[in-house]
Parts: sequence; C-alpha cells; structure tokens
Amino acid sequence: MTDKAEVTPWEVSSDLQETDYSRIASQFGAKLIDDKILSDIKELTGEIHPFLHYGIFFAHRDLDIILENYRKGEPFYLYTGRGPSGNMHLGHLLPFMFTKWLQEKFNVDLLIQITDDEKYLFRDIPESEIRTITRNNILDILSLGFNPEKTHIIVDSEQAGILYNQAVRVSRHITASTAKAVFGFTDSDSIGKYFFTSIQAVPAFLLSALSGRNIRCLIPYAIDQDPHFKVARDVIPKLGYEKPSSIISKFIPSLKGGGKMSSSDLNSGIYLDDSPKVVRKKLMKYAFSGGKETAEEQRKYGANPDIDFAFNIYRMLEHDQNKVEGIYAKYKGGEILSGEMKQLSADTISAFLETLGPARQQAERNYSEYMFNADDFRDRY
Ligand code: TRP
Repeated sequence: MTDKAEVTPWEVSSDLQETDYSRIASQFGAKLIDDKILSDIKELTGEIHPFLHYGIFFAHRDLDIILENYRKGEPFYLYTGRGPSGNMHLGHLLPFMFTKWLQEKFNVDLLIQITDDEKYLFRDIPESEIRTITRNNILDILSLGFNPEKTHIIVDSEQAGILYNQAVRVSRHITASTAKAVFGFTDSDSIGKYFFTSIQAVPAFLLSALSGRNIRCLIPYAIDQDPHFKVARDVIPKLGYEKPSSIISKFIPSLKGGGKMSSSDLNSGIYLDDSPKVVRKKLMKYAFSGGKETAEEQRKYGANPDIDFAFNIYRMLEHDQNKVEGIYAKYKGGEILSGEMKQLSADTISAFLETLGPARQQAERNYSEYMFNADDFRDRY
C-alpha cells in the first residue's frame, strides 16, 4: 500500500476521532449531513432515525438530490452490501438496521451485494469456506426481517453473468493509475484486485440498465467504502446513467475500543448467537469503558459516555431518546457506575438479539425468494 490513502476499503487506521471523520469526508469530497438534510428527512419520513440523530451516519454525496426528486414523486432504490469474510457481529449488522429503516420509510427496492469474489481476492479464505460464510451472513442480515418482495440479494459468484457484462463496461473507464491512487494498490497487487471495484459499481446502476429507465440509487455505506463509489460516480454517467448518491457512516465502535470491530478475535465483538450470559461476560470483561477506575472516582468525576462501548451500543438499540438522554446525563454525572452501564447495555443487547431468531428461521425457509432475479426488473419501473 502507498501512503496516499489513509482509509481504503481494506485498510483503516484504527482509533479515528470525531475530527478525523470530518477531515476524511471532506478530503474524499463528501458533504456533512446538515440540519437542512435532517429536516427534509424528517419531513418525508416522519422521524429522525437514532443513527442520524447521533451522527453515526454523518456524511453524504448528493443525498439532497435523492430527497428532492423523491418529493416530486420520482422513485429511487437502495443498494448496500457485505463482504463475507467471517461470522457477523453486532457491529456488522447495525448498518443494515439503518438501511432497513430507509427501505421501509421510503418504500423502495433494496439490492444487497454479497462480495464473495472480493473476499477470495483480498483475503486468504478457501473457496469452500466462503460458501458457508456467505449463507450464514445472508441469514444473519435477513434476521432483521427484510421484506422479501423488495429485498434482492446479489451473490457475486451466482450472478456472475449479469454482473460481468456491466462490470466490463465500467472497467474500460478506470485506469491502473486511478486504482493505485484511490485504493493504494501497488505493482505487486493482483490484477483481480484492480478489476474488483468494477463489480462493486454495478448494482449502483443495475436497475437502470435492466429496466431501460434511469432510476436513482442511494447507497448507505461506512466511510471505508467511499473510494469505490467516488470512482463509480465518475464512471457511471459515462455509461448513460445517473450518478449514484450515498449516505455515509462512521465505524461502529469495537468492543475493546478503536475504529472497527475485528472478525478474527471471538472476544472482539458480540456475535448474533451469543447467549445473554456470554453477552454480559464480554461486556463486563472486555468492553472499552469511558468510566473511571474506581467507583469513588466515578461518583466524583463521572464517565465519558461518548467513548464508552456499552453506552454507545445502548443508545443505538434503545429507541426511546428521552431514556437515552437520561442515562447519558446520569452516567456522565457519576450517578451510574460503569458496571451498571454495562449491565443495562447487556440486557438491551440480549433483548435485541432475542428478536432476531424468528425472522432468521423464516428466511431459512424462503431463502430463494430473496435472491436477485433479473427478470423481476424488466418492467418494474
Ligand atoms: N466491499 C464491501 C465489504 O467488504 C461489501 C459491499 C459491496 C458494500 N457493495 C457494497 C458495502 C455497497 C456497502 C455498500 O464489506
């Protein structure tokens, strides 16, 4: 990797601070989500999702255009994805919760790309394992209860024919020097890596290509994916389609602190099948705390909830914002101790995980209904 790119889809410097996020967003050329965007969203959906309220989704590209045209009655669709590299933990699932909210509020189609080819190219995972991981990840995502009529999963290796024909068109417009500058590749990276971004670009215009109509696309993603879509936004208009828009999140805090929850260490995140006992233990033992060393100091000086894992996850899962504000004030003011905060968070997490079971079982039964089918889109719009 060259030292040009501080954040690429495959490498992120850990411990990004608030100021780093706005700096990186503006370096990349994305805009911060401002009050105007928030009030437009509120007007169109009736509410502000907690992830917007707390600035977890904090930046965008042309989101205003999506909202403006939606208001005039023009449809759009959503596109997001997952690279199947291992089991999913809570940090992986939370962005899908937000996407589901957008899907329901705007009542739109959603494409979910599962980039098994990406993980084959970028990680040393045997092909046979990727297949199992892929199926499990899909079921984990679907455990949030997505609408099968409007949710369409594209597994790259299974939709290779459709993706490849479009990806070739994209790839013709991306030079090796652009890929090097944007992704930090060097001469020793495989040519498969150089091509891959063309595959990730395809779902951002696929429904337009299939239906023959120009349908706008909104892509929710974490900031590390921005290089892909920066390039895609340059290329897609050259193919005759609208530039995709995006809504961009920070990283979900990791259990032990730092930028991103890692998939390699079982204790680094809360897994979706962790029992309430395990959840509690992980929080008590490993969760990065914004509290003070001793109860006495905590009572006296209070905690810093903003950097506290338990508090951060609690506020993402507790939809009653008044309750969250109350806890914030008490924790910060020293009325609540670290252990109590962890217990409250563990209970909230376990209650949430509990809700995932039924939809996961349902998805196991109608798995194939969720799989992308090009014929569905020929005259859908
Ligand atoms: N490359 C992403 C990852 O490694 C997966 C992905 C594909 C994606 N398409 C996307 C993520 C669109 C967000 C939006 O996780």
